[in-house]
Amino acid sequence: MRIGILGYGTVGSGLVDVIDNNKSKRDIEIVKILVKDKSKHKDKKYFDKLTTNIDDVFNNNIDVLVELIGGLNPSLEYIKRALSSKIHVVTANKDLLAEHGNELVELSNKNNVNIKFEASVGGGIPVLKPLIESLEGNSIDSIYAILNGTTNFILSKMYNESLSYDDALKQAQILGFAEANPDSDVLGYDAARKLSILSTLAYNNRVYWKDLYLEGITDIDAKDMEYAKQLNCKIKLVGQSRYEDDVVSASVRPVLVGNESILAMVDNEFNIVVVNGDSVGELSFVGKGAGKLATGSAVYSDLLDILDNRSASINSFTKSRVKVNKIVKNKCSALLRFKDCQKDEIIHVIKECMQNYDILNDDDDELAIMVHANSEYEINNSLCVIKDKGYCVGVNKLLKIS
Ligand code: NDP
Ligand code: HSE
Repeated sequence: MRIGILGYGTVGSGLVDVIDNNKSKRDIEIVKILVKDKSKHKDKKYFDKLTTNIDDVFNNNIDVLVELIGGLNPSLEYIKRALSSKIHVVTANKDLLAEHGNELVELSNKNNVNIKFEASVGGGIPVLKPLIESLEGNSIDSIYAILNGTTNFILSKMYNESLSYDDALKQAQILGFAEANPDSDVLGYDAARKLSILSTLAYNNRVYWKDLYLEGITDIDAKDMEYAKQLNCKIKLVGQSRYEDDVVSASVRPVLVGNESILAMVDNEFNIVVVNGDSVGELSFVGKGAGKLATGSAVYSDLLDILDNRSASINSFTKSRVKVNKIVKNKCSALLRFKDCQKDEIIHVIKECMQNYDILNDDDDELAIMVHANSEYEINNSLCVIKDKGYCVGVNKLLKIS
């Protein structure tokens, strides 16, 4: 099998290593590697195969185009060109799948070639293939997951080593976990895109990532970590979705998870995806969600599927867009932090509106309360009352999930 690789960064070089490590087992020939700037790669192997001209890749009789550039442009154009030329495509690009998955799957069907994207969700974890193939005998009704290695790394370092947010992000960038623009990671876009891909495949309905409720980790600070410890919890960026009565509810947001929860055990760049199927029950997939070799392994597995002629239906991407609710109507608890506030008045409102509450801190210049309510709507309503009456300037809310 002759392949052209677009991109020779973290994942591109990881894939090349995995191909070389398995040379004796499978025959995959790297024909060309497209980069932006050849001078950056002088010390790397296969320098002679590097090009900055996309036509060099397409004019070399390739069977598969492996897109590992990232982002929408020029990746979209190159992938469409490949599919239209009846060349199979493997990609790790969740931005592209979440935004243009429908037209790319349609184009691949029309041209009778595959588009595969195992590495786009959960890095090295084989999760899409089990979802598409092994769990076909199930109706899946819920997913909860840690889907971004960079943010999980940052939150773990802040919690376990008291590292600052900025220093932890810098480490994640050096280790190759973060996106070219790390805003995608820390603002939660990357996790939302991945959750939309998982939900689309799991619920056989197109779930569009911009319809999800979305909150990133940029407001989380050292004080949140202190409160989390006080509550025997950790803070995780969690993606959750549920399918009920033809409606999906889905969110990506930082939450408190109890130390005994399976999510709390997944630290650093590791990811976890937990799905619930009506036949199989609850299933968990855990592993490295980012990084060179782990992601290279997932890309390689897609190449083997193409080499061995294994293809499975991913037509859920071509379905019409399903309605998405942003809030799940569950009983819930939340940590509320009020700054520059009238403490007694706020406690009075909370007492009137909530089932129950515990004050964590009213000594400093802030009031921190753990509230327990029938739903998040109830919490939001009491926050509206507090704001309307002018009892505080700002409030941070962190839900606790069980
Ligand atoms: P990197 O930034 O490390 O590498 C990107 C590569 O693409 C570089 O070699 C760069 O060339 C090349 N490139 C960028 N723009 C162009 C262009 N216009 N034309 C030609 N080449 C270009 O990215 P990653 O390897 O981290 O990510 C690649 C993809 O994999 C992304 O979609 C990402 O979301 C996804 N992914 C990443 C994971 C990770 O752990 N990093 C895990 C799972 C998925 P040059 O080197 O010359 O600048
Ligand atoms: N930036 C992504 C992450 C890479 O940190 O999870 C893997 O998709």
